[in-house]
Amino acid sequence: MELDVKVLQEKILSLKKERKALILAHNYQIIDIQEIADFVGDSLQLARQSAEVSGFDMVVFVGVKFMAEMASILSPTPVYIPDPKALCPLAGYLDAQKIRGKKKEYPGVPVVVYVNTTAEAKSEADLICTSGSAVEVVESLGVDRVIFGPDAHLADYVRAHTSVEVIDIDERGHCYVHNMFDLSMLIELKEEYPDSIAIAHPECPIEVQEQADMVGSTGMMARTVAESDAKVFLIATEMGMIHQLQKRHPEKTILPMYEGAVCRQMKKHTLEKILDVLVNLPSKNLVTVPEPFVPHIRKILEKMNKLRGQGPATRVKVES
Ligand code: 13P
Ligand code: SF4
Repeated sequence: MELDVKVLQEKILSLKKERKALILAHNYQIIDIQEIADFVGDSLQLARQSAEVSGFDMVVFVGVKFMAEMASILSPTPVYIPDPKALCPLAGYLDAQKIRGKKKEYPGVPVVVYVNTTAEAKSEADLICTSGSAVEVVESLGVDRVIFGPDAHLADYVRAHTSVEVIDIDERGHCYVHNMFDLSMLIELKEEYPDSIAIAHPECPIEVQEQADMVGSTGMMARTVAESDAKVFLIATEMGMIHQLQKRHPEKTILPMYEGAVCRQMKKHTLEKILDVLVNLPSKNLVTVPEPFVPHIRKILEKMNKLRGQGPATRVKVES
């Protein structure tokens, strides 16, 4: 029998206290989950939050597996994921062998990988980035060329915002959700709402990025909508972000550029699965990274976290 959302949320909040658990949720999670989280944010904000965990005995990370792995490396406490099958398909474009092949082809050129990669792929990288830190991370190397992957659209974004030559590890690498956006969607909505602000995620195709008023991570979108005086926003990213922005800003109009942009992997998490983790602490939900990879990945994640960056994740008011 399905439990009512409110009942489930109350059970989670009470058990969360008992277990001394911190709940971190990505911006794409449904509102019901965001409401019981301590922090909601983009991958960079959640990485920073994971590194600052103190006074808790465990973390429940509600996002795709590779983000949870990043949290497990940075957090001093065990990290659990509500659905261990929440895998980001973008990560499938890179394996260690492919990266080693590129390194051979371009000896001495540093490798930057997106956080949405396997631990094995990260172990071959000189630095890691998120969408919110990609430009800064690449520029921090102070070089003319970088090897970059797996997202070819994010690579285009870096090309457009730096003078660095960006070599794709796999030109086919893309996120199937952000690849759904095309320029005609933006143009049509802009005609209808000429005073709107169009914001695109850097995983969108470059034509969409070029015509948008702003391009940035989901955290940047949250900040922009909160701080701008504009009344209408056209958003090109996953639908969870649209629902969240509309709920937080009922006085503004938040329009998705495409309603079909739903990440099935992020949506695998449910309140029931979060409750199950808190009740049973199942070992299959405990996030681990093979030990040999951990020291290097921790080092490069800490380097990324130290770069100047965006504001903190949204602290959510939790009632218990
Ligand atoms: P953000 O870091 O911007 O939240 O992006 C994560 C992601 O998976 C985008 O699809
Ligand atoms: Fe991966 Fe795209 Fe889903 Fe983000 S939206 S988690 S990049 S599949």
